[in-house]
Amino acid sequence: MDIQLRSSRVVIIGTGAVGATTAYTLFLRERASEIVLIDANKEKALGEALDMNHGLPFTGGVKLWAGDYSDCAGADIIVIAAGASQRPGETRIDLLKRNASIFDTIIKNIVKYNTQGIILVATNPVDILSYVSLKQSGFPSNRVIGSGTLLDSARFRYLIGQSKGINPRSIHAHIVGEHGDSELPLWSLANVAGIGLEISEEEKVDIFNNTKNAAYEIINAKGSTSYAIGLALDRIITSILLDEGSVLNVSTLLTDYNGVSDVYLGVPSIVDRSGVRQVLDLELSDQELQQFQSSANKLKAAIAELDL
Ligand code: LAC
Repeated sequence: MDIQLRSSRVVIIGTGAVGATTAYTLFLRERASEIVLIDANKEKALGEALDMNHGLPFTGGVKLWAGDYSDCAGADIIVIAAGASQRPGETRIDLLKRNASIFDTIIKNIVKYNTQGIILVATNPVDILSYVSLKQSGFPSNRVIGSGTLLDSARFRYLIGQSKGINPRSIHAHIVGEHGDSELPLWSLANVAGIGLEISEEEKVDIFNNTKNAAYEIINAKGSTSYAIGLALDRIITSILLDEGSVLNVSTLLTDYNGVSDVYLGVPSIVDRSGVRQVLDLELSDQELQQFQSSANKLKAAIAELDL
């Protein structure tokens, strides 16, 4: 009996450093049967598609092309990586006005062709732009997801692993809240392969500061980040397309969650074919709760400034 592999289409809007690297990651790992690149700069999208397709003899059978919004029809996942990225010293929130202004057009163009897919937002400030995408698309919240603090948690796990000489795949630790300066570490839950984690207060401060400031350091050094965020988006896309049900710290709409409602924040969520199937409850210490609610209030204040 021939096993009919289900075809899948991922559309990537924005072929800058993050969008192009994400496309290449999906292309190399053959995550989808079809990958479509869309960019306001059509030449750029075409160039990225040509450059990847010339590598097809070394990879496999992904169909990848530079397209337009009509290619969103039937897409399983539409990644939004379009917009300005941080300049050295800029915070993610500094990008809000510039990037929110292009989302209106992007979302209108998506929903013209697709009302059943999953929107995955990477553009910063990702939590707020995920909320904007929810409001402008009219999609149910499970199908509007932000990359959230999945990348921050990966950096956190890497740095803890580096300090202990342990492979980060055996380190389990969460950064939650804003993908940005108000994010917070859940040291109370950090563990090595399910076993407790011995770590000094001094090391904790050092590791968290390096986690939170990682993007600034990379942007100063090479102009933008791309590889780890591309891998984080690949992780989310894979959990959706393979219906994995993996627990990932994506940005999702919270309702009465540790006293927080009507805002997107990075929290441990079960991600499967439906998008975010369930948000997992977190036991927060008093200090963690205060930081979490402060992170939420910061983003809600920024959202209130928008004309949604
Ligand atoms: C970073 C970008 C994706 O943290 O916000 O690298």
